[in-house]
Amino acid sequence: MMRAIVQDGYGPPEALRVGSVPVPAPRDDEVLVRVRAAGVDPGVWHVVTGLPYGVRLGFGLRRPRQPVPGLDLAGVVTAVGSRVRDLAVGDAVFGTGRGSFAEHAVAKADQVAPMPATLSFQEAAAVPISGQTALAAARKAGDLEGRRVMVLGAGGGVGAFAVQLAKAEGAHVTGVCSAGKADFVRSLGADEVVDYTVTDPTAPTSAAPAYDVVIDTAGNRRLTRLRRALTPRGVLLLIGGEAGEGRLLQGFDRQARALLWSPLLHQRLVPVMGKQRTTDLQTLAGLIDTGRIRPVIDRVFPLEDAAAAVAHVGSGHARAKTVLSLD
Ligand SMILES: NC(=O)c1ccc[n+]([C@@H]2O[C@H](COP(=O)([O-])OP(=O)(O)OC[C@H]3O[C@@H](n4cnc5c(N)ncnc54)[C@H](OP(=O)(O)O)[C@@H]3O)[C@@H](O)[C@H]2O)c1
Repeated sequence: MMRAIVQDGYGPPEALRVGSVPVPAPRDDEVLVRVRAAGVDPGVWHVVTGLPYGVRLGFGLRRPRQPVPGLDLAGVVTAVGSRVRDLAVGDAVFGTGRGSFAEHAVAKADQVAPMPATLSFQEAAAVPISGQTALAAARKAGDLEGRRVMVLGAGGGVGAFAVQLAKAEGAHVTGVCSAGKADFVRSLGADEVVDYTVTDPTAPTSAAPAYDVVIDTAGNRRLTRLRRALTPRGVLLLIGGEAGEGRLLQGFDRQARALLWSPLLHQRLVPVMGKQRTTDLQTLAGLIDTGRIRPVIDRVFPLEDAAAAVAHVGSGHARAKTVLSLD
């Protein structure tokens, strides 16, 4: 048996409890990981609360099929499935698994990678979903050298990676965040910072539209507003945003509308879904170990305070990354 956070049904994060559950067994293509740290991101909040309701179609209609929440992890491999070739017991890995808010979690071998040499377990657990999502957006943007990029939600988990990746590619980056995160966003390399509580970053100006690329991780602004900030052939990358109304889709309908509109426009409106895979983790590890990007942790909670950690991230105003420690 092992110590784990247990989710008996959908509900507020406070309903999460510390429990004792069986150690999972890896399937043929999986590894078992002794979790040393687990990342917390808004996706976990959605699965814990079951909101928007559309989430339940994927995770279980009445209650979550997986009773232990958590995806991001960093830890040490303690068992490998019969078809796993590239990983061995004792390897330190990071990536995504099933039920990472526990002492042990299983992960598909093709969704983890050897940990970046320069990171602690806590830092490594802060990378997988946010880093891979920002990487997917940067790739869809195309060549960023010399281009003007605006990142909405620049002080959040995905946004902090997006700012750094765009800078590493040679872009001129404007980070949009609230005033309290301005210094942090500058420290990530942003050339300019806009406080959205004072200035609407998408407001029409007499000057030409400013941005070749807008990476939207926050706020659920309307597509028409976001397009105003783009050059005539600019690219809008839609990652997420928690402020949408409606308990069924909570803003995900923007992604669908973007797909419908985009073929009719010179601008490109592109929904971004982060993929979990070893190759992208290896790319991120390379960028980290050569000092081009770095994960930033704002708060570390012990495993037993997972409810507080999930509520903190669910506030929609977390700074950089939040992790659970299992040391
Ligand atoms: N598509 C995918 O594959 C994928 C993957 C991961 C995450 N997501 C989604 O992407 C979104 C961001 O994830 P995350 O991990 O970065 O979340 P996060 O860490 O909570 O960061 C969100 C950031 O948005 C800022 N923000 C809130 N309202 C804003 C507004 N109106 N304008 C500008 N900034 C605002 C917040 O900071 P302030 O204090 O400055 O407001 C916060 O730092 C979430 O909706 C998440 O579900 C999607």
